[in-house]
Amino acid sequence: MCRPDHFDVYYAINPWMDATSPVDRDLALAQWDTLRATFERHGHRVETIAGEPGLPDMVFAANGGLVIGERALSARFANAERAAEGPAYHRWLTDQRLTRVHAATETNEGEGDFAVVGNRILAGSGFRTSHAAHREAEKFFDRPVISLDLVDPRFYHLDTALMPLGDTIAFYPPAFTPDSIRLLTALYPDALIATDADANVLGLNGVCDGYHVFLTGRATTLPAQLRDRGYLPIGIDLAELLKAGGSVKCCTMELHPAH
Ligand code: ARG
Repeated sequence: MCRPDHFDVYYAINPWMDATSPVDRDLALAQWDTLRATFERHGHRVETIAGEPGLPDMVFAANGGLVIGERALSARFANAERAAEGPAYHRWLTDQRLTRVHAATETNEGEGDFAVVGNRILAGSGFRTSHAAHREAEKFFDRPVISLDLVDPRFYHLDTALMPLGDTIAFYPPAFTPDSIRLLTALYPDALIATDADANVLGLNGVCDGYHVFLTGRATTLPAQLRDRGYLPIGIDLAELLKAGGSVKCCTMELHPAH
């Protein structure tokens, strides 16, 4: 995770961002501190990377790369505003005990567009990560990568419209092309379908550890849907970070085990 010491919204690269309306950085820091403390209270170890001045979106650590077991693929950002985050996250990954850290040659925004579900990697494209990057990830991790296409600019990253839940997923069909919806429905017939209202508060931008699901406290239907499946939803208020188009998952790069 990356503490939002330099968080701000002074450029707009997604429809959630309004460069003319101010953000309250102290509030963002307090909300982020609560998220971190909540992860820790539920038994998760949190590592941090130092945020850098001039990189206001660096708080969205999920975008820095994809880590599975001993391998890490670092990001190569689509927008110039975030380009310098790629090398920053690459350096951080290189300092961890990982055997292979690969600096991407294709454009990928890490776990923003890559989701690990069982042995598969689901990969989004349409706004940020390229199809070529999906193939690069497939080779590097030596796992099947399923390409999905996003169509709604409000759901510009896969993790805004789809949440892994162990071996299945929750997702918001209108964010995807008809072909991608068909593919997801065939792969995950038991997928949980999110409502418009929950998608519109980035309710799917959550982290599931197998039992707890950390997600925005603004979701209304999703918590009950999750409880029905045996999960325990934990609501978090990240309203200040939502002004940049991010929520719980965006703030969290998971270190996935290899199995
Ligand atoms: N302002 C950031 C951007 O548009 C938000 C990134 C959110 N991260 C995520 N994993 N969806 O790039």
